[in-house]
Amino acid sequence: MNGFAAANGISLADARKLAKASPELIDDFVLENASSVCQLVTPDYNNVGQDTQKAIDLSTERPSEIFKVEREGYSDIYLKGGKRILFYRDKIKIIDGVAVSGEPLTTLWDDLLSNNIHNEGGVPFPKGKKPEALLKRCFELATSRNSADIVMDSFCGSGTTAAVAMKMGLRFITVEMGEHAESHAAKRLRAVVSGEDQSGVSRDLKWRGGSGFRYCRLGVPLFNEFGDIDGEVSFPDLAAHIFFAETGAPIPTRAQVGNAYLGKHGEKAVYLLYAQGQAGMPREALGNVLTPDALVALPPPPKGFEGTRVVYAEGSTVSPDRLKAEGVMFKQIPYQIEGV
Ligand SMILES: C[S@@+](CC[C@H](N)C(=O)[O-])C[C@H]1O[C@@H](n2cnc3c(N)ncnc32)[C@H](O)[C@@H]1O
Repeated sequence: MNGFAAANGISLADARKLAKASPELIDDFVLENASSVCQLVTPDYNNVGQDTQKAIDLSTERPSEIFKVEREGYSDIYLKGGKRILFYRDKIKIIDGVAVSGEPLTTLWDDLLSNNIHNEGGVPFPKGKKPEALLKRCFELATSRNSADIVMDSFCGSGTTAAVAMKMGLRFITVEMGEHAESHAAKRLRAVVSGEDQSGVSRDLKWRGGSGFRYCRLGVPLFNEFGDIDGEVSFPDLAAHIFFAETGAPIPTRAQVGNAYLGKHGEKAVYLLYAQGQAGMPREALGNVLTPDALVALPPPPKGFEGTRVVYAEGSTVSPDRLKAEGVMFKQIPYQIEGV
């Protein structure tokens, strides 16, 4: 405090008042002078090495001298009168280019056990649920608050990860294969959104509700083990995937069976010739081949469209020159479907 008073050209009493009124000033002062700010602490004699023990003994015998113990890979230890001089600079870490003070965490976190874990989130999940405080600490270490960071947990369980991410203003993706996706996780997250969930880290974060989430069910995989389109995949689902893979945008409206035109995005109008049939049935008979007749029969793109018509089909019998002249690009399914 004396140094703070001298640096500001004020009395000690005024320096104390100033530090009380504006604690950030003293914080900044300490950070700027971290090599000169120190504190004397009693070392744990039985838990230090022999060199340090000797230096502690010597410094106790000769209290007017300062003793130094050099350590490889660690900061040197300074001792005076049997006490260790702890410099504030050793607490400073540079995080994102900014000097901040902090203690490194140990790898044993025994301070986060929750006695009330079974009540957290309002859903029981014995032997599986993690404490919200544990997830909060992980996110504090690994993400920036209210940032574009996305937390991903593919073992959602009762939804602890998602609940804490939401309360901390982080985006999240979480996946669960069990029925508790609905009965536990979705139920819990709805209570977080409404603000009804005041358990876990809610109070700490002053959570009052808000945010939101989208809950989707995965469909059947597009391809089977042979690399063919799975028989259970519907035309609209295949169309939605192809449109997105081709244009990077969601399909404008759900595709209708029997209508090959899927929609346009930018310079591309996308078509799909595809119908499931019995094994061994000729693909042309199904309408899955881009023949000259099929080309003529394609529904026209919207008026004024001058881009490329991208046609997905199982094969093509139209010559490359004709396709080029018509502004059509043929892509073969399943081989040229991207994004899987
Ligand atoms: C130990 S629990 C996770 C608990 C969670 N951290 C919590 O606090 O509630 C693991 C979860 O992962 C799910 N799971 C396991 N394998 C999966 C997979 N391949 N895809 C999706 N979920 C899976 C299980 O059904 C179970 O609910």
